[in-house]
Amino acid sequence: MKITRSIYTFAFLGAVLGLASCGASGEDPGYEYAPQMYNSIAYEPLSQIVNEDEGAWLSTREDGKGEFFNSNINNPNRMNMREPVANTVPRSKDGSLPYRLKQFELEAAALNENPVTLTPQVLAEGKVLYTQYCSACHGQGGEGDGKAGEVIGGVANLKGGAYINLPEGHIFHVVMKGKGRMGAHGSQIPQERIWKIVHYVKQEIQKQ
Ligand code: HEC
Repeated sequence: MKITRSIYTFAFLGAVLGLASCGASGEDPGYEYAPQMYNSIAYEPLSQIVNEDEGAWLSTREDGKGEFFNSNINNPNRMNMREPVANTVPRSKDGSLPYRLKQFELEAAALNENPVTLTPQVLAEGKVLYTQYCSACHGQGGEGDGKAGEVIGGVANLKGGAYINLPEGHIFHVVMKGKGRMGAHGSQIPQERIWKIVHYVKQEIQKQ
């Protein structure tokens, strides 16, 4: 009996102390379990720790600072990310500028020329991309007979009379922004790849 009771007492005390020791209140942030898991030691844009003593109690750093101090002293405002130069225009990885035409500006878009030089390599890539992104609806041959197209219905036959003379900029715009029953693909396919698909559509599917 006595032993059981003391076991219970110890367990109870242990639990109370255990819970109390985690407590954080007021200025005291409490102890964190395995803090390296959420405080990055490497520079990070979003966890800027400017207090040089933060994490001093477990620091192994050679510069003597707290383990979690990681603000970048070499940059203004101790930022890790620098503000871009004023009026900077972002470019995508392939070097293209943002595509600013709105969905209804199809006529202006039709004047755009394909910036990707046509090579056998580009054509081969265009074919792969067309198969991935377009054939489900438009069919491998472009006749609007893809499996998903059967369900959606009304898919354009890219070999058909109304479409065969579409300018390249027009096709690019439709893929980028969508048209009618076809959704926009601009967020899925980088611009350079869309232009490769356009080459494939023009050179192979709509070959005259
Ligand atoms: C989810 C099915 C679907 C996918 C995927 C799809 N399309 Fe379409 N596409 C359509 C439908 C439906 C239309 C008919 C749009 C309308 O006029 O309502 C269409 C129309 C078109 C047109 C004719 C535009 C016009 O001016 O009338 C072109 C060109 C075209 N698609 C190219 C492509 C290319 C290239 C791809 C691959 C990047 C692609 N589509 C992917 C369903 C699809």
